[in-house]
Amino acid sequence: MTRRSGVAVRTSVVLVVALGVTLVAGCGGGSPLDNAPDIANPAGVRGQSLSFAYFQACVQPILVAPLAAPGAGGAPNTCASSGCHDSVNGTGGALRLAGQAAPVDLADAASTPEAVRATAMYRNFVSAQGMAIIGAPEQSLLLAKPRLANVLHGGGLIFERADDDNVRRIAYWIGHPMPQGQDEFSTASNALFTPADSRTGRCNP
Ligand code: HEM
Repeated sequence: MTRRSGVAVRTSVVLVVALGVTLVAGCGGGSPLDNAPDIANPAGVRGQSLSFAYFQACVQPILVAPLAAPGAGGAPNTCASSGCHDSVNGTGGALRLAGQAAPVDLADAASTPEAVRATAMYRNFVSAQGMAIIGAPEQSLLLAKPRLANVLHGGGLIFERADDDNVRRIAYWIGHPMPQGQDEFSTASNALFTPADSRTGRCNP
């Protein structure tokens, strides 16, 4: 290696290193040997909830009713029945329901959120809410499956018409979530009933 080529090699090494440092500086500064910057991990923001009061008064009755399923030749089919969505021996995917769940008296002082969250009715609520895209009934499996709306359903066609009262109620529940920052027991549930009282009012719509 001649003296000239030696100089050329050293120069190009210096240039490459200089280029490397410049690039790294351009990508956020610091050297590649520095620790990675701390990752921001803000606390999770609570998503919106659906109404527990409306669920137990207006949706649960649909899920335990013998429905004349067009897909089964009109033979009555119950969503929460065994072999379907029963929470013990159902085969209905993640929608699991206790058909015998007792209604919770929300006016009872003993019905604290913790106490209600330990009930079978609450587990039904959570499972059904899990099949909903909150605020978007049309995109929710809870309606798409029994309506065979671009999906297959192990239980076949349950609701033929979009204006079926049961469909309208389930859609109303999903389409009227509790205000952001309020939980499933919010008094905003009263507005989902007429008169606006979840204990005495009729289920909207
Ligand atoms: C109103 C009544 C009903 C509703 C709202 C409903 C809703 C649903 C939903 C949301 C799923 C998807 C679960 C998942 O993705 O994990 C599903 C699945 C299933 N359902 Fe139903 N269902 C109803 C009635 C029935 C009935 C009566 C039967 C039985 C005859 C049944 C049998 C099944 C089965 C076997 C599956 C799992 C296979 C699949 O994903 O399609 N369902 N149903």
